Amino acid sequence: MSAPLLAAHPVVPVVVIDEADQAVPLGEALLAGGIAVMEVTLRTEAGLEGIRRLTELEGMTVGAGSVLTPAQVDEVVAAGATFVVSPGINADVVRRAQELGVPALPGISSSTDLMTAVSLGLREVKFFPAGLLGGPKMIKALSAPFGGITFMPSGGVSLDNLGEYLALPCVPAVSGSWMVDKSLVNAGNWAEITRLAAEAVAAARAAG
Ligand code: 3PG
Repeated sequence: MSAPLLAAHPVVPVVVIDEADQAVPLGEALLAGGIAVMEVTLRTEAGLEGIRRLTELEGMTVGAGSVLTPAQVDEVVAAGATFVVSPGINADVVRRAQELGVPALPGISSSTDLMTAVSLGLREVKFFPAGLLGGPKMIKALSAPFGGITFMPSGGVSLDNLGEYLALPCVPAVSGSWMVDKSLVNAGNWAEITRLAAEAVAAARAAG
């Protein structure tokens, strides 16, 4: 994921779908709320097919989340994912994504992880699980020796605290699931998802 992509998409929804049929209506609901990026996780079997279907949705940038192995990198890229997010950092996963020309956004939780990220040539990382690791204060402390690295916090980010993260110059985007809650997706409550997406975008703009 390039810096301009993160800067263009300050709120990245983490999507878990039970049915592949949910993918496109969910994407449309997010687009209507002003969010043009989705991280569709492989936490359910429907995730991969969801990614495939979302590639047909004009204007939506689709990435894969919860990618744990190099083989999964192959699968999601074949399905059309244009970036790859992982909960932690694994050199084989990152290198496979780099070989395929797809940006990798691995999760980091320590300065040791960040040194691994730097050694792999990465400039952007996910900070996960952000809330439990100490939130914005922890990012500020971790980032000090790593000039030029930008962070996408995820895990415990919400409408109430996203502004504290985005106030940090090294945080161009936040990520989370609050605007695509599974209960809303399973109920097909697309209008509420659009409302929550628009609310998140407005809060991110106000913070930025
Ligand atoms: C992730 O994979 O980044 C998280 O599961 C999202 O965390 P949240 O559900 O607390 O937003």
